[in-house]
Amino acid sequence: WPLFAPYVDAIARLKRERNAVILAHNYQTPEIFHGVADIVGDSLQLAREAQRAEADVIMVCGVHFMGQTAKILNPERTVIVPDARAGCSLAESITAADVRMLRAKHRGVPVVTYVNTSAEVKAESDVCCTSSNAVKVVESLGVPRVILIPDAFLAHYVASQTAVEIISWHGRCEVHERFRAIDVDRLREGEDGLLVIAHPECPPDVIAAADFAGSTAAMIDFVRDRAPQKVVLLTECSMSDNVAAQFANVEFVRPCNLCPHMKRNTLPKILRSLETLQDEIVVDEAVRVRALAAVERMIAIA
Ligand code: 13P
Ligand code: SF4
Repeated sequence: WPLFAPYVDAIARLKRERNAVILAHNYQTPEIFHGVADIVGDSLQLAREAQRAEADVIMVCGVHFMGQTAKILNPERTVIVPDARAGCSLAESITAADVRMLRAKHRGVPVVTYVNTSAEVKAESDVCCTSSNAVKVVESLGVPRVILIPDAFLAHYVASQTAVEIISWHGRCEVHERFRAIDVDRLREGEDGLLVIAHPECPPDVIAAADFAGSTAAMIDFVRDRAPQKVVLLTECSMSDNVAAQFANVEFVRPCNLCPHMKRNTLPKILRSLETLQDEIVVDEAVRVRALAAVERMIAIA
């Protein structure tokens, strides 16, 4: 921490000067999550907070699509991210033209789009979802079939939880796809009472082998409610580092995978970003208005 202190102090001063708020995703490193963030959470929580933020500047410490979602919801504010190159393999897996192609192929079937996508893809969609509300959003439409894009594994998970037929896409999270069911079996060996929690972006056999699947916020709630002796969160590495501080009596077993995109954010970049107000998120207004309809519809349902 002494190493981080000068940055933490300088960032706090600039936040005041700029009237800025920092929203940080649960996968940010502990010095960001605990040291400089004003609000932390999963994708849905950050979207809600961005929508109601009154600060002049909203900094989103996460990945690019999270910054875009904030700008879509709150266009009057200056929205910045520490590094605009922080992408996401799911967002990269699909384009607006792909969505139009899917619509043409499945006429009349509504498109539900995971927030891990570009503004252009959201603009082609009927409604967005996150991993914490995907089942609810799909069922709210009251139709027998939906197109759920772009995460094949999230789509598989949702299909296992609902009678609605799911048409999926082939996107994958490069972080969660690396977990294996055999790893879950090995983890359980000699670890009596170990609770295994998987993110819905994990492969289906990993989710089947786990005790619970849920978004990063749902993982925290589950640990709080069940108060296990030992738990493993099959997700990005910073997650356990960040939440372990809240649960002193829980042992966090820590095999994990790093998201290289989330890890682009650092304290020096946050400081530079607040100084220069770069990298600013800009969304074409015609795209924004159409994407907003899909994001707002999700927030209303959730
Ligand atoms: P959550 O909505 O669960 O925070 O997930 C975001 C994400 O990028 C998971 O990889
Ligand atoms: Fe995208 Fe996966 Fe990284 Fe989340 S963990 S931002 S889904 S690549």
